Amino acid sequence: MAGLIPKSFIQDLIERADVVEIVDSRVPLKKAGKNYQACCPFHNEKSPSFTVAPDKQFYHCFGCGEHGNAIDFLMKYDGLEFPEAVEELAHMLGLEVPRETTANPAEDARKRAQQASDYEQMERAAKFFAHQLRHHSNSPQVIEYLKGRGIQGETVKQFQIGYAPDGWDGLLQALGSDQRSRQQLLDLKLINRNEQGRHYDFFRDRLMFPIRDRRGRVVGFGGRILQGDGPKYLNSPETRIFHKGRELYGFYEARQAHRELSQVVIVEGYMDVVALAQAGIDFAVASLGTATTADQLQMLFRATRKVICCYDGDRAGREAAWRALENALPLLQDGIEMNFLFLPDGEDPDSLVRREGAQPFLHRLNQAQSFIDYFFSHLTETIDVQTDAGKSLLLKQTKPLLERVASEFYRNILIERLARLLRYEVSQLRASITNVTAQQPHTPQLKMTPMRRAIALLLQQPEIGKEVPLHPELAGLKLPGVKLLLRLHEQIHQGAMSTAQLLELWRGEREEQALRQLARWEHHLNSENMAQEFYAIFAYFIDLFVEQRANELLAKEQQAPLSRAERQEYLTLLQYLKDSESR
Ligand code: UTP
Ligand code: MN
Repeated sequence: MAGLIPKSFIQDLIERADVVEIVDSRVPLKKAGKNYQACCPFHNEKSPSFTVAPDKQFYHCFGCGEHGNAIDFLMKYDGLEFPEAVEELAHMLGLEVPRETTANPAEDARKRAQQASDYEQMERAAKFFAHQLRHHSNSPQVIEYLKGRGIQGETVKQFQIGYAPDGWDGLLQALGSDQRSRQQLLDLKLINRNEQGRHYDFFRDRLMFPIRDRRGRVVGFGGRILQGDGPKYLNSPETRIFHKGRELYGFYEARQAHRELSQVVIVEGYMDVVALAQAGIDFAVASLGTATTADQLQMLFRATRKVICCYDGDRAGREAAWRALENALPLLQDGIEMNFLFLPDGEDPDSLVRREGAQPFLHRLNQAQSFIDYFFSHLTETIDVQTDAGKSLLLKQTKPLLERVASEFYRNILIERLARLLRYEVSQLRASITNVTAQQPHTPQLKMTPMRRAIALLLQQPEIGKEVPLHPELAGLKLPGVKLLLRLHEQIHQGAMSTAQLLELWRGEREEQALRQLARWEHHLNSENMAQEFYAIFAYFIDLFVEQRANELLAKEQQAPLSRAERQEYLTLLQYLKDSESR
């Protein structure tokens, strides 16, 4: 893999970037006092509770709790992974991302070059297939097939649909001129090798759908049979650049069509995505012949706030839907909608949209069952909740599911609905579901101890820390959090001068979540009072430490006489305490 991005570079990025500018380029902001505001892009709201603080270089929504620095914003808003968000930010600032050489820099460089070359080779393959679609001797039949399915040239171009020729070595001849490129084609599963060591094309006489990753790079293909026997669809097997469970067919194209995706429909097939897009419903994606995975759902929930799972009404479709729901439980957050639509028997989105047109299909999408409704209608399909046995069975089946629901909002509604079904008191039911261990997006409110206050103040206004000299000896103070406080203090002295920069230094650390929460803590102090409060707490810690140390020495003296140095230290400590009382 590519080497690590040096932390110092990330700090530099956060320092140079302006989170206000970055948010504003995607969500227009209005000035409000010293901060900026907008309606939150991460949940539905009428009045703005999304605030961006230029001094902290930090954004926070009081409505849904979303928060973070410029990198977090790009991750969340653009649906990027961390390294991608760093790349994006660097790109915006016109910087090149350096990579730390790991243990084996030569190996790293080789892998990086390999990857780049893999993507190029896949792109060349896609171009080759697209070219064959128009120029192969079978081209008229292939185009006839597409016409028969109502697919227009524009759509073919948009999805770069192609044709894999019916010979055995069309692609091999075009892209596998030497041993190295043949090996690469083998690795990318574009060609096969038989027992005699002969190479031949993997896809033959098939309509080709290039699968792009979220950055638009071709990572695999789906190939539909046009005639004869064989599986209807052949998909690229997993390769070093293609992992089925992490890609969604059509996701890149949908994002190209919509800067902001207000909704996404998950369908089952390649042709469904293509036909819907052609009908103007250009926000459909297909999971690649599998149930929708957690990775795929995560990718969608980062990109949109409304996901509609659209499946066949048959048993396979219903099973796939339920699997998607189960995968979504720990991922679905407040403010995200997930709906379910089952199509009439024998229909798929492609056939429906072609027969009925776009409007009726959009209507169906709007009528889709909510997550909550589907949850209960699925479970009560086979359970009679009128009987006691049924009730206890429903409770038994629901409990482990409820415990995995991350969203408080959804969990509450589910509990309320379940209570109604079972004719239980909500409070009673809530209490019986004690063991709710979902990873909550909103961690419980921290109790504000002096240590947490001090840490929060430092985080929120790092200049305060600059004014106070470092006190490494405080590490001996027996108070939880003191090491964290001292480390933050040190980081400020080393130049981390904003909330955003400080938090960035803790990304991925055990303390990250607590720090994020403290960065959002509302203190209702003006900046002068913040400083004073911090000094007061810090002085209190020093007093506490001195007292602790003095007591330690005192206790020691009861065992054996103190050394000269210890005696001296003790006297100094006592003097300090006396002075501090008179201060
Ligand atoms: P369907 O059989 O519903 O095909 O498979 P479809 O999309 O309606 O295809 P058309 O309309 O006949 O062209 C749905 C999806 O399941 C996967 C493919 O991703 C397909 O798009 N699949 C299906 C396979 O991977 N292999 C198969 O043999 C069949
Ligand atoms: Mn179909």
